[in-house]
Amino acid sequence: MSDEPLSKPSPPLSLEQLAQLLPGTGEIMASVGNAWWKCAYAARGGNWELAAYFARRVRGLQRKLAQIRPKYAEDLLEFENTQLNPVLTALGAHDGPSFERTYATATARANEFHVKWAKPYIRWVLPDEPPKDLELDR
Ligand code: HEM
Repeated sequence: MSDEPLSKPSPPLSLEQLAQLLPGTGEIMASVGNAWWKCAYAARGGNWELAAYFARRVRGLQRKLAQIRPKYAEDLLEFENTQLNPVLTALGAHDGPSFERTYATATARANEFHVKWAKPYIRWVLPDEPPKDLELDR
């Protein structure tokens, strides 16, 4: 800690300034990609609760994105209803083959949305490597 006296408190931020500080779509999507990766390897390891946790995390991040970037809200809702929900159902049933099927379809659909939103060069692929920071097999 320095011995400098505390500076005067800054004036409150305006709503515009606060809005500028919200995470951008790219930042939220980077977290979505991370959770989606871990979801797959947790399911493959048989840790169904962890896999469902990460699928719900994707859902929560996308709901937040829909609120702060309303132009994506309709597509994100469609993705939740038609893609994420079947993945969550498969995880709840501990059904590996159904998980693999719904997960692959959801990933393909996500990449279609990247094309739609003029980012065709963003093609998410499942990394070969499992995450190393979590126990995946129970
Ligand atoms: C599980 C599903 C999805 C995954 C794994 C995923 C993954 C990603 C990743 C890794 C990025 C690049 C992030 C970065 O800048 O570091 C990205 C960007 C993006 N994603 Fe997704 N995505 C998914 C679903 C969706 C959906 C449903 C939409 C529909 C609106 C969407 C719209 C976008 C957009 C617009 C960008 C560009 C961000 C920007 O403009 O800064 N994504 N996504």
